[in-house]
Amino acid sequence: MKVRVRDFEMAYEDTGGSGTPLLLIHGFPLDRTLWAAQGRGLADVARVIAPDLRGFGESGMPAGAVTMDAYADDLRGLLDALGVKNAVVAGLSMGGYIAFAFYRQDVHRVRGLILADTKASPDSSEGKKGRDDNAALACAHGSAQVGDKMMPKMLTPTTANGRPFIADAVRAMMARQSVEGVVGALMAMRDRPDSTPTLAEITVPTLIVTGAEDTLIPPKEAEAMRNAIRGSRLVSIPGAAHLANFEAPDAFNHAVREFLQTFA
Ligand code: MLT
Repeated sequence: MKVRVRDFEMAYEDTGGSGTPLLLIHGFPLDRTLWAAQGRGLADVARVIAPDLRGFGESGMPAGAVTMDAYADDLRGLLDALGVKNAVVAGLSMGGYIAFAFYRQDVHRVRGLILADTKASPDSSEGKKGRDDNAALACAHGSAQVGDKMMPKMLTPTTANGRPFIADAVRAMMARQSVEGVVGALMAMRDRPDSTPTLAEITVPTLIVTGAEDTLIPPKEAEAMRNAIRGSRLVSIPGAAHLANFEAPDAFNHAVREFLQTFA
């Protein structure tokens, strides 16, 4: 499905129904298909809404620089278009950076937060240089090259070797993203604000999820968020790396399902 949001056409999945609205924000350089197993596995308890961020998947990419606030504005536009007043906002990795921006912009639209394989801290100067290098790589050789570089950290070696169809799906998802979308996101991540001060301001129920073997954003980042967000709960998923929801969907969905019961 597609809807005009602000200055572009945004593609999204919406399972509909009367369950708690659950907005799923994908990571980088991915698209809404990251959440396919959540749409299938949680539609009985939630109205699962999974968009493609601007420049990713089947969404358009208007000209101009992108910021975490711009992505969050787009998502509020999507909720407006769908008539959804507030939602449990879930973001994986870059999606978590956007969830923090969304929360700061309009806390009243956030019933709860799910922060998966993400962190509050901004890029270090070395990290910022890495963003520039990856943007140059994408421009010179295509976005698949950036995906290939990231691939070893997305899944555990056990899954990458033992369930190659999962690795193939992740590789294909990363390879099909547009250079414009990838570069826009890299610059937005490079320049994103520090969300650490936001942690103490979070007053909605919050679930933090980490792949126990995430090396891109290690579990210690999840622990730091758990310690700083009052009343939050941390679930560590064994046998999962950065894309915990994709690699271990049953365990991920179980944690989310339990969390959603808070809102029933
Ligand atoms: C992501 O998975 O969204 C990104 O890799 C996060 C990042 O690079 O900071």
